[in-house]
Amino acid sequence: MDVDPQLLLLRRQYLQLFEPDFLAWPSPKLLKNVDAQKWLHRHLFDTNRNPHLPPESYQLRVLKQLTSKMGKGKANLDSDGVLGELAACLTSLIAKKVSSEIKVFQENAYVTFTCIPEKRNDYEDTSEPTLTLLEKRQLVSGSQITGFRTWEGSLHLGSYLLTEAGSHFVNGKNILELGTGTGFNAILAGKHLHANHVTATDGDGGVIEALRENLTLNKIDDQQQVRARTLLWGQDLKGTWVEDGCRAHPYDIVLGADITYEKSAISALVLTLQSLFDMRPKLQVIISGVVRNAETFQTFRDQCASHHFVVEDIQFEAKPMRQQKSLFYAAAVPLKLLSITRP
Ligand SMILES: C[S@@+](CC[C@H](N)C(=O)[O-])C[C@H]1O[C@@H](n2cnc3c(N)ncnc32)[C@H](O)[C@@H]1O
Repeated sequence: MDVDPQLLLLRRQYLQLFEPDFLAWPSPKLLKNVDAQKWLHRHLFDTNRNPHLPPESYQLRVLKQLTSKMGKGKANLDSDGVLGELAACLTSLIAKKVSSEIKVFQENAYVTFTCIPEKRNDYEDTSEPTLTLLEKRQLVSGSQITGFRTWEGSLHLGSYLLTEAGSHFVNGKNILELGTGTGFNAILAGKHLHANHVTATDGDGGVIEALRENLTLNKIDDQQQVRARTLLWGQDLKGTWVEDGCRAHPYDIVLGADITYEKSAISALVLTLQSLFDMRPKLQVIISGVVRNAETFQTFRDQCASHHFVVEDIQFEAKPMRQQKSLFYAAAVPLKLLSITRP
């Protein structure tokens, strides 16, 4: 069945927990259509069909706005038919007292990202490629532990990897990711972009444990495909699992998203890159930088230069949010993509 693109867009934004006030709502005419209402119930709220829906507090916020936009007041909510099913969901969510608007930020939340390659728009209905992560969204920027939610830097890098130019860095390649966090790009590369192998690393043991759960959630149980390992920057990599990893999966590409934000960690990060270049001289490093502080980002570039790395900007602009069709992220803070090699 051909689904109206407005419905698909709403579903993608909803599953990624897009702020309800800014959702791209379908036209009022479409929202009143019975088939559209059926589809919305089936694909956004039916827990029997969708095991990893957003938190109930978020569902409630969206459903309140949706039913009000359908132009039905409370008087009609008991009527039979599809609106009846949506109304039943609304009643049940209200009864569960999940109305606290901020509660969503305190819960573990399933977040589903739709990952459509730039050149493709021919997926049928809900067969679109997705990946689902269990995130702890209450941890905000500035917190010591930042790896339990997916940041804009990852979504920017992922959007690039989904382009034709970006896919060449992943397709058939052996990849090591630094500071992987939830593992968004590692899972994207292994599940949808035909990487030969991905080793996803992070310095935080808790983040790695959560990542393993996210691998299972995405049915990636094969360590040959994607594996999770602890790697703290700045330590000597000789004689560690990384050396064995380089032999077992000779890495072609290192990915890193939003890992250049902490000035005190930059030297350690650059030392790790140096160590990796020593083991794999032809390596290409792709860094997605979120430039919250221009001086910190410049420190990273300067330290790369002092190690004689060649740092080049990759030309890739984030689209304004209203033009994004999947992988939604704000580009209010400048986002940079760098290619780093050692001649
Ligand atoms: C802002 S998060 C980015 C996570 C993910 N790449 C993303 O963009 O969603 C930074 C990640 O780097 C990791 N990290 C920070 N300092 C580190 C270090 N010294 N060694 C290894 N990982 C580190 C954190 O644990 C965290 O997962």
